[in-house]
Amino acid sequence: MSVLLSPLTIKGVTLKNRIVVSPMCQYSAEDGFASDWHLVHLGSRAVGGAALIIQEASAVSPEGRISSADIGIWKDEHLPMLKRITDFIHANGSLAGIQLAHAGRKASTLPPWQGGTQVTLQDGGYQAYAPSAIPFREGDEAPMALDVEGIEKVKKDFRDAAARSLEAGYQVIELHAAHGYLLHQFLSPLSNQRTDEYGGSFENRIRLLMEVLEDVQQVWPDERLLFVRISATDWAEGGWTPEESLKLSAILKEKGVDLIDCSSGGLAIHQQIPVFPGYQVQFAEAIKNETGILTGAVGLITEAQQAEDILREKQADLIFLARELLRDPYFPLHAAYQLQEEPEWPHQYERAKPRKTR
Ligand SMILES: Cc1cc2nc3c(=O)[nH]c(=O)nc-3n(C[C@H](O)[C@H](O)[C@H](O)COP(=O)(O)O)c2cc1C
Repeated sequence: MSVLLSPLTIKGVTLKNRIVVSPMCQYSAEDGFASDWHLVHLGSRAVGGAALIIQEASAVSPEGRISSADIGIWKDEHLPMLKRITDFIHANGSLAGIQLAHAGRKASTLPPWQGGTQVTLQDGGYQAYAPSAIPFREGDEAPMALDVEGIEKVKKDFRDAAARSLEAGYQVIELHAAHGYLLHQFLSPLSNQRTDEYGGSFENRIRLLMEVLEDVQQVWPDERLLFVRISATDWAEGGWTPEESLKLSAILKEKGVDLIDCSSGGLAIHQQIPVFPGYQVQFAEAIKNETGILTGAVGLITEAQQAEDILREKQADLIFLARELLRDPYFPLHAAYQLQEEPEWPHQYERAKPRKTR
C-alpha cells in the first residue's frame, strides 16, 4: 500500500490518509461569520477524500483579521455555522481542523482580487498591531506597537478562540506562526525590535508564541491535536533562520506540540525565495530528522508520486496541499488510482467509479 493513502494515528486521533487541506483564506466571511461558501468549499474537500481539512486563518479578534472578509472566532455567535462545517466534515469521514491566527501588522487589507493593499483608518480600515511600529510595506500606515496589556489581550484572544474551537467540534488546532503574521512578527528580528522581554534574544522573541501555546493548552484537551505552522526561514538577511526553526521546533516538541507544518517566507517584502517543486520540503525533513517531531511538508506539491516519495524518504509525515486541491478537490481519489490503489468513494458517487479494466 502507498504511504500517502495509509492512515496515521497521532495520540489516538486517526487520519485516514496523509493528505491535508492546507489552510486557505477565502475572503468570503462577513463580521467573522463563515458563510455557505465555506461549507461548500471545505465540505467538497471532505467529499474529495482528504484526511484533514484545516480551515483558513481564522481570526482570534476583529483586529487580527487580514481583511474584513476573514473568518473569525472571537464571539460565540460565530459558532453555529462553524459547527455546521465541522459536523459535515466529520460526517463524511474527514477530520476538521482550524488555523487560529492574528494578522498583526498585515491586518486591514483588501482581498487579493481587489488588490490586497492596506485599507487605512481614514478609508474605513482598522488599527493594526505588531511587536514594533514597523509597517510591512514601506509607505503603509505603521502598526501600533503592542504594550503589555495589548499582549495580554492577544493571549486571552487565542485562549478564548481555542475554547470556542473545542465547542465548535474541531479535532485539530493549528497555531499560525508563519507568513509574517503576528506570532511570526515576534519571532523575526526584522519585525521585532522591542527592548523588553518580548524582543532581542531568541528566548525573548519566541516568548509570545510560548505563552500563547501554554494558554491554548489550558483549554485545548491533550486528546486533540495541536499543530504549529512556522515559516522556517524569512529568506531575508537579518531575519528568522532555519537554525532558529530547528531550535524552536525542539522546544515545541518538548511542550507537547504534535506537528510542525513547515512553510516559509511572508515576513519581509525583500525576501528572495528560490521556488521549485517541493522547495520547502527540506525544512520539514531537517526538523523531522533533527528534533524527532512529526512534520508536514507544504508548497508546490502537485503530484501523487511526488507526495508518496516525500513520505517514503521520511522527509515528512503529512502532505499539506493548497492550490492543487483548489484545482482538484478529488485529488485524493485520483492519487489513489495513480498509486495503483482502489480508493473508497462516497456512496453517493459510487456509480461513477471507474470500472476495473484489469
Ligand atoms: C487562496 C490561498 C489562501 C491561503 N490562505 C492561507 C491561510 O489562511 N493560512 C496559511 O497558513 N496559508 C495560506 N495559504 C498558503 C497555503 O496554505 C500553502 O502554504 C501555499 O499555497 C503553498 O502550498 P501549495 O503550493 O500547495 O499551494 C493560502 C494559499 C492560497 C492559494
